[in-house]
Amino acid sequence: MENSFDIRLESLTQPPAPASAESTFAAAQPAADGPTFYLETFGCQMNEHDSEKVAGVLLSRGYQQVERPEAASLILYNTCSIREKAAQKVFSRLGVYRDMLGKDQKIGVLGCVAQQEGEEIFKRAPWVSLVCGSASYRNLPQLLAQVEAGGQRVTGLDNETDETFETQITRRDNPWRGYITIIEGCDKACTYCVVPYTRGPERSRDSARILAELRQLADFGYTEVQFLGQTVNSYRDPSPRKMRFSELLVAAAQIPGIRRVRFTTSHPSDFGRDIVEAMDANPVICNHIHLPVQSGSVRVLRAMRRTYSRGEYLEKIALIRAARRPIAVTTDIIVGFPSETETEFAETLSLLDEIRYSGMFAFKYSPRPNTPALSMPDAIPEEEKSHRLAILLERQRTIQLEDLHKLQNEIVEVHVDGKSKKPDQWYGHSSCNRVVNCTSASADLLGQYINVCVTGCTPNSLVGDHVLG
Ligand code: 5AD
Ligand code: SF4
Repeated sequence: MENSFDIRLESLTQPPAPASAESTFAAAQPAADGPTFYLETFGCQMNEHDSEKVAGVLLSRGYQQVERPEAASLILYNTCSIREKAAQKVFSRLGVYRDMLGKDQKIGVLGCVAQQEGEEIFKRAPWVSLVCGSASYRNLPQLLAQVEAGGQRVTGLDNETDETFETQITRRDNPWRGYITIIEGCDKACTYCVVPYTRGPERSRDSARILAELRQLADFGYTEVQFLGQTVNSYRDPSPRKMRFSELLVAAAQIPGIRRVRFTTSHPSDFGRDIVEAMDANPVICNHIHLPVQSGSVRVLRAMRRTYSRGEYLEKIALIRAARRPIAVTTDIIVGFPSETETEFAETLSLLDEIRYSGMFAFKYSPRPNTPALSMPDAIPEEEKSHRLAILLERQRTIQLEDLHKLQNEIVEVHVDGKSKKPDQWYGHSSCNRVVNCTSASADLLGQYINVCVTGCTPNSLVGDHVLG
């Protein structure tokens, strides 16, 4: 979840391996001498997938994707501002681009920092031609036309919309797991979070469009899909069909060729029994739920405006634990929210003990612009936040190791998505989204579903042997 310059830069400049001979990428190859773009992405899975759709828009306009910014006529920089000094990082990055920008090259800033800083970006970095937040991506074709016509300060900053970003082509980076955004924006108002401000109000896509996109993915050879949304389970079908989120999951699971359906991120307040029932009835829906709790303290949850108490969250966990098959639950936690006491932090630790999450993303609270928590008193010193974070990570590590040890000799189904440099070593994901490293003498397992017998573990992965037959 954390941003990393190096990883993103590398992964996004690699040419994607097609899902099949007839991938969207192959279908969209433009003439070699047309305009070119370079796209760099930071942030969450939603941002990564937005970039796949933005790339699709550019490909359909005749652009070709290149691997180095120097070779691009248009450089696009998709930014994230969820934590830390995002704007500062963007401006220093834009400085690097200014020094290398050729006469005919243009640069655009997309994503959360674009929305947050708006026209200020043109003031501080006048060499930028386009500033566009995610709620305006639907207007990208017109905005790009303006940039192509020599427009200097082209903006897409309109945030008040009920429209979603629909693309004819999506240039997918991941050949094994297809991502589909089903809901954009967020209507919750957590006091620490910039997302409602940077991504605009909640708007769901038509269920028929989502399912059509999924059928197309299956036709391209994808067997695994992940539905995306900041609060994915708050999905409300705008069409007369009025499909519930759980019904959408079931419909997706029934599409021929689809073997795994995932979804993230779920909001506890909108999590209902119907989702667990859908999972129970359809093993194609993966046994993993990412259900961020953020804190174990009732008072801190209220100050965060999370809309549930510790007890109510535990009731949702009880629903999940009552499922017919074991479902892995992962979470996000923020430590050092303003005025969080040591006792309140200890309540988060006790929640970890009580729930025993399969995985956790933990963050030090970071003050964000335009959020109510910014002006809350009693900030926690950085060293104290780091101290709490270290304690939390250590506690979770112990829990994970203990629980993973119990899986010794179990058989797990793995969707293989990579080959290690070591001979006969492969890796992939289990249905519960655990990374599994395995040994197999098979010649090519990429994209296949195999059974693996667990022989060992690390805190974050399982190790095992391919079971033939
Ligand atoms: N400070 C620290 N963590 C944050 N998150 C969101 N906003 C902040 C912030 N201001 C974390 C939450 C969320 C995850 C995506 O990022 O845990 O679930
Ligand atoms: Fe941010 Fe809260 Fe919305 Fe999640 S639910 S995106 S944390 S405001």
